[in-house]
Amino acid sequence: MSTNLNVAVIGCGYWGPNLIRNFNSAPNCTLKTLCDANQKRLDVMKGLYPNVQTTTDYNEVINDPEIQAIVIALPVHLHHPVAKAALENGKHVLIEKPMTSSVEQSKELVALAKQKNLTLMVGHTFIYSAPVRKIKEIIDSGELGDIIYMSSRRLNLGLFQKDINVTWDLAPHDLAIMLYILGSEADSVNCTGVDALNISENIEAITNLSVHFKNGVFANIQSSWLDPNKVRDMTFVGTKKMLVFNDIEQFEKIKIYDKGIDMPEAGYSTFADFVFAYRNGDMYSPAFNMVEPLKLEAQHFLDCIRSGSTPLTSGEDGLKVVQILEASSLSLKQNGAQIVL
Ligand SMILES: NC(=O)c1ccc[n+]([C@@H]2O[C@H](COP(=O)([O-])OP(=O)(O)OC[C@H]3O[C@@H](n4cnc5c(N)ncnc54)[C@H](O)[C@@H]3O)[C@@H](O)[C@H]2O)c1
Repeated sequence: MSTNLNVAVIGCGYWGPNLIRNFNSAPNCTLKTLCDANQKRLDVMKGLYPNVQTTTDYNEVINDPEIQAIVIALPVHLHHPVAKAALENGKHVLIEKPMTSSVEQSKELVALAKQKNLTLMVGHTFIYSAPVRKIKEIIDSGELGDIIYMSSRRLNLGLFQKDINVTWDLAPHDLAIMLYILGSEADSVNCTGVDALNISENIEAITNLSVHFKNGVFANIQSSWLDPNKVRDMTFVGTKKMLVFNDIEQFEKIKIYDKGIDMPEAGYSTFADFVFAYRNGDMYSPAFNMVEPLKLEAQHFLDCIRSGSTPLTSGEDGLKVVQILEASSLSLKQNGAQIVL
């Protein structure tokens, strides 16, 4: 039987309770302490989990010798200071996305975890989702051919953040998925956007991010907190077929289109020849079993702590996403100029 691990969750706002529920039900894991600066949130949590200790001071959690692992679901500007203190105190750490507010901070955490031989994992939740794993399986099988282009739209009305813009809030999901599926790194980034809500300086509510990857693939990511409809879709265009992932659909989340342009081997001489080269074939939707991604993510964190293996969403993976986000902010300040990473 695997060793029991005592876990604390810091941050019981919107997202924290989802992590709390999954760590509470994970086998050989004791949810020991919950921390939030807001006592009312703690009272709600205590009602749900009466056996769990609560505190408003995260230092109490970090200094508790009985706690082995800390899960951070705080506003982004607090990720680095809390994670740093936790690692320095010998705790394994899972941090929500985006891992930190800067590349420098992410690098520091990655180095610290390595030096202390501790697990550092980032909550790139989609990497644990069944449709994303199915998409990777399909793309790795070669069914779509070589990937040429990817696009993603993550739009809704809110939920506004006060310390990060919409790219830092929503695009980590798209970037983590793209990096995971391509296995390539970003080469350069362009980003434009507007602070349509005047939330505060550098808090754009609508952005368009373009990424050129080192393997030649081009990606467009549209993020918005100001849209009447919730849109969560991604398109992967390959040399053979195209795939659309619509996460809003309850069923048929993935559709594979046998569409493309077949260039006549001898080239084409008339416009009519060119038109005939369009291929509009069948569409099918592959089946897969849904499991709650956070359940797998929580279990994976605990498994990595016990085995000492590198998480699928490691500190280095968190750093790669933050590198793109930091470049996107620089590009925004320069009206969309290309920033080479
Ligand atoms: N993986 C996902 O799909 C996903 C989804 C939503 C949010 N998130 C991430 O989760 C994190 C939290 O986001 P949220 O939407 O839950 O934010 P939130 O503002 O709803 O919750 C943050 C909580 O932290 C508490 N807090 C603030 N300062 C504190 C301090 N010094 N000590 C203790 N507690 C403190 C607040 O009281 C609040 O309850 C962010 O990094 C966000 O990007 C991830």
